[in-house]
Amino acid sequence: MTAEDAPPRVVSSARLGDDDRFEAGLRPRSLDAYIGQDRLRENLGIAIAAARQRGEALDHVLLYGPQGLGKTTLALVVGHELGVAVRTTAGPVLEKPGDLAGILTNLGEREVLFIDEIHRMSPVVEEILYPAMEDYELDIVIGQGPGARSVKVPLKPFTLIGATTRAGLLTSPLRARFGIVHRLDFYRAEDLQEIVRRSAGIFDVPIEDAAAVEIAGRSRGTPRVANRLLRRVRDFAQVRAEGRITRDVALAALKMLDVDTNGFDEADRRLLHAIIDKFGGGPVGLNSIAAAISEEKEAIEDIYEPFLIQIGFLDRTPRGRVATARAYDYFGVPAPSRGGRLW
Ligand code: ADE
Repeated sequence: MTAEDAPPRVVSSARLGDDDRFEAGLRPRSLDAYIGQDRLRENLGIAIAAARQRGEALDHVLLYGPQGLGKTTLALVVGHELGVAVRTTAGPVLEKPGDLAGILTNLGEREVLFIDEIHRMSPVVEEILYPAMEDYELDIVIGQGPGARSVKVPLKPFTLIGATTRAGLLTSPLRARFGIVHRLDFYRAEDLQEIVRRSAGIFDVPIEDAAAVEIAGRSRGTPRVANRLLRRVRDFAQVRAEGRITRDVALAALKMLDVDTNGFDEADRRLLHAIIDKFGGGPVGLNSIAAAISEEKEAIEDIYEPFLIQIGFLDRTPRGRVATARAYDYFGVPAPSRGGRLW
């Protein structure tokens, strides 16, 4: 078995969603196999090599950016590159300080602890992270009242990798304790095409370059979406087209999935349509949009909005969300003129 084939040692207390389960087999294991995010890859590569040379734990890493861009994947890659196990958990799962203390005291020398959605950790849990990150020790209070005393429990040097979709929601003492902070950006079209071709290779499904272009172009800059679309196109190719993904097969499958050339699905269209139709194009608050389209506020903020903003269909202003001229164009509706400005 080569290093690239070896399964990563992952100890997890977080449940995996459907996409995560399917993604697992497609995840690159090494930095070399990781496609895209070039600057981040290069910087991390240097920090990892330096930590290895010194025989030290890698500095703590904060990864932030929209969902589906590979924060978990990167944490596993870092563990693989460091040659250590990765323990994964998530902010909302850590209810009591003891939950996190238990995980921290069980970490081996230079191992990686990955905390997803780290902005959703409760303040009492967060407090015990400070001395753990800074001095590799836990401050534990034993007993209550006047007899209470604090004991310090040493930890092995470790690396915390925190992931968040909302860097702004992190408290400043926590943010300040990360030595390496990186934003993950939406992927470039060429990188997504390469990811689609790589994943098709793992599935052992032949794919035309032009088909990879079509799938990548509808993937909202997101590898998770690219791989999800590829799996559906592969099903279609298998049942209707002898298993080969040509451009025509990809286009037919994507049409059936109702994914348009922007990668919008029904939910994106409903969101934009609501802003234009029900709220005169905005500005409109998130609560009103959520109520109008019966979606969770968090889903709108974390899943739909970042991409719509990135491709210039939606704007976030101090007074609320606004549909842009591009959004009006998309629906073939004339944009209202407001003294030369849209809003
Ligand atoms: N699969 C999902 N994300 C990937 C990436 N960044 N590089 C290679 N394969 C991937």
